[in-house]
Amino acid sequence: MPNLEIVYRDLTATPLSHLTGSHLAAAQGAEPAAELREDLALSQGVLDEFLAADIVVLGAPMYNFTVPSQLKAWIDRIVVAGKTFSYGAQGAKGLAGNKRVIVAMSRGGFYGADTPSALGEHLETYLRWVFGFVGVANPEFISADGIQAGPGQREKALATALQAVTDLRAA
Ligand SMILES: Cc1cc2nc3c(=O)[nH]c(=O)nc-3n(C[C@H](O)[C@H](O)[C@H](O)COP(=O)(O)O)c2cc1C
Repeated sequence: MPNLEIVYRDLTATPLSHLTGSHLAAAQGAEPAAELREDLALSQGVLDEFLAADIVVLGAPMYNFTVPSQLKAWIDRIVVAGKTFSYGAQGAKGLAGNKRVIVAMSRGGFYGADTPSALGEHLETYLRWVFGFVGVANPEFISADGIQAGPGQREKALATALQAVTDLRAA
C-alpha cells in the first residue's frame, strides 16, 4: 500500500510514565499542576494517535509472562473511559473497533495449550482481551516462540514468524 502514512512510536527510547494519583485526579476534573500538564498533553497525543490509526502494529516481547511495563504504560494511556470504551447497562462497550491490530510477539519459551507453561501465558491472552475490550474483535497475533531454547529453535521461530508476516492478508 504505497500511500500509507506510518507513525512510529518507540516505547523504549521514549517511554511513557506510569499513571499516578495526580493523573487520575486530573481525569476527574482536578486542576493539574504545571509539571503534569505536559504529560497530560502527551497522553492526549498518544490516544489521538491510536484513535486515528487504521492499522496498529505492536511489537510485544514476553517479559515475566506478560507485556513489558513500557507497553503496559501505553495501554494505560489508550484504554480510556469515554474515548475507547464506555460502561452502560449492558456492561462495557468498545468504542475503537474501526481498526486492525497486528501484534508481533516473541517469547523465550513455549506456552501452547498443550504445554506445562500454558497457565503462565498472559501476553497474548491479555492483549486479546485489552483490544477486544476497546472494540477490536479480532486482533491478529504472530509469534516467535522458544527464542531462548537454543540457536536452532531461535532460527526456526524467526523463520516461521517471518513467513506468517508474509502470509498476513494485505488489507
Ligand atoms: C526481562 C525479561 C523477562 C523475560 N520473561 C520471559 C518470560 O516470562 N517468558 C518467556 O518465555 N520469555 C521471557 N523472556 C524472553 C523474551 O521473551 C525473549 O527473549 C524475547 O524475544 C525478548 O525480546 P527483546 O530482545 O526484544 O526484548 C524475558 C526476557 C527478558 C529480557
